[in-house]
Order: sequence, then C-alpha cells, then structure tokens
Amino acid sequence: MSQAKMIDGVAVAKQLREEVSRRAAALAAKGTTPGLAVVLVGDDAASAVYVRNKVKACEQHGLFSTLDRMPATVTEAELLERILQLNADPKIHGILVQLPLPAHIDSHKVIEAIAAEKDVDGFHVANAGALMTGRPQFRPCTPYGVLKMLEAYDIPISGKHAVVIGRSNIVGKPMALLLLEAGATVTVCHSKTADLSRHTRSADIVVAAVGKRNILTGEMVKPGATVVDVGMNKNDAGKLCGDVEFASVSEVAGHVTPVPGGVGPMTITMLLVNTLESAERSAR
Ligand code: GUN
Repeated sequence: MSQAKMIDGVAVAKQLREEVSRRAAALAAKGTTPGLAVVLVGDDAASAVYVRNKVKACEQHGLFSTLDRMPATVTEAELLERILQLNADPKIHGILVQLPLPAHIDSHKVIEAIAAEKDVDGFHVANAGALMTGRPQFRPCTPYGVLKMLEAYDIPISGKHAVVIGRSNIVGKPMALLLLEAGATVTVCHSKTADLSRHTRSADIVVAAVGKRNILTGEMVKPGATVVDVGMNKNDAGKLCGDVEFASVSEVAGHVTPVPGGVGPMTITMLLVNTLESAERSAR
C-alpha cells in the first residue's frame, strides 16, 4: 500500500513557467527579449533531446534562443572562439554548453570561457564560488529545481537532516550547498560511501543523484521522509526510470518525486528563470 504523497514536478514547473512568461513579456515590452544561446557538440542522442527541449521551452515562454550544433570533431579553439562571440553578443543573456563534451575538449576550460554573468548553468568557478560563499548569482538548474519543489510542498528544510547521494559538479555538490544554505544538516554520500543506508535511514530528506537504478530502496528510508529522485536511467524494457526503487520507497516515504514527471520538468524551468533574471539584471 502506497502512502507517500507524490510531488508533481509538472504542476510546480507550470506555475513557475507562467511567471517566467509574464516577466519575459514585461521585459520585452521595455525592449529586452531574454536570449539564451545553446551549444551542442557532437551527436549524443540524449543530449540532442535535452537541447531540443531547452530551445522549445524558450519559444513557449517568450525567450529568444539560438542553437549552435558543432560536429564532434570541432577543435577546442573553435568552440572557445564561438563562446567569446556569444559573450560579446548583447542579445544573449545566457550561454549553455551542453555536457558532456567530447574527450579531446577540456570542459573546465570551456565553462571558464563563458562570461560568468551569462553562465545560466551556474557551473563557472566564479558562480560555484559565489554559491559556496553564500552570494549565489546563478544556482545550478537541477538542484535549484529540487529546492523549489520542496518549497512548493512546504517541506521544512531548516534543522532537518538531508542526505545527498552523488557528488557531481552539476547536481550533488551544488545540491548539498543549497540545502546547507537553507539550514539543513547535510551529509553527502557517493560511490565510495561504506554503509549508505546508515546515513539514509536517519535522513528527513534524501536526494538521489547518482545515475544508477535502485540505489535507494524502501528499507533504507525513514518513515515519512521526503525522497527526491534526480536519476534519469533506462530500465531493461528501455523505459525511463530514476535512481529510486519507487514501489518500495513510496510505501515508506512521506513525499516522493516520480520519474518521469518529477525533477525533470523543473531543470528546464530553472534554466528559463536564470536566463530571465540575467536579462532583467542586464536591463537595469
Ligand atoms: N548535462 C546534463 N545536465 C546538464 C545541465 O544541467 N547543463 C548542461 N550544460 N549540461 C548538462
């Protein structure tokens, strides 16, 4: 018997997107249409889908977007040159280089080439450092979206124990910092953690972001806890699934996010928010 309340990412995203549309239209009426430049290198199928959805979301909410598709053979110098052009383009308020990049390109160097005030992913060291020191400019989209979902469902964070499973620069590390900023006591677990369930069993909030199916099962969860699933995996039948064993966890948890329909719709929404806010700042 399932007891957990479902956290509906589609509904939370819809509400935030309506506000984006309103603010984008207001800014456009004053002469600034928010602009996002997306750069995709190579032909990874999943990346192509993500990028298409990002461009489509811009169209739907009154943002202007450009898409640069570069072959997997592009040189690092050519990619850096393109970023410098976008940095100098006043119509562009956000620049996103879809990751991962081909192995011959140093992704750190590419991210550092993006003007920090246009780094809507929040991956630039200046933005990572700003988040770390409590003065965030752009919060990375996926963890920012998770925070907004928790807020939308009035799930308390301050004083609670949060466990983040995963330590990536894109999700795990910024997620831990955002939860810390919100007053949680944060534990970061990862592939080398000796006894994962020892940590997760005492957590009020668990965020699973490892990219591995069934990393979290019902017996690893404290009754009533909130479980957020950031995973995007395929099961044996080729269907999209998360990191959480949904059936067993939803019997124990108080709140749980489904996959699909949970965190996924929030990531692109927060990209729209970051791009809009960048445009608002530039118009001031
Ligand atoms: N690859 C997977 N997630 C992301 C993301 O949020 N931003 C970028 N640029 N690449 C990604």
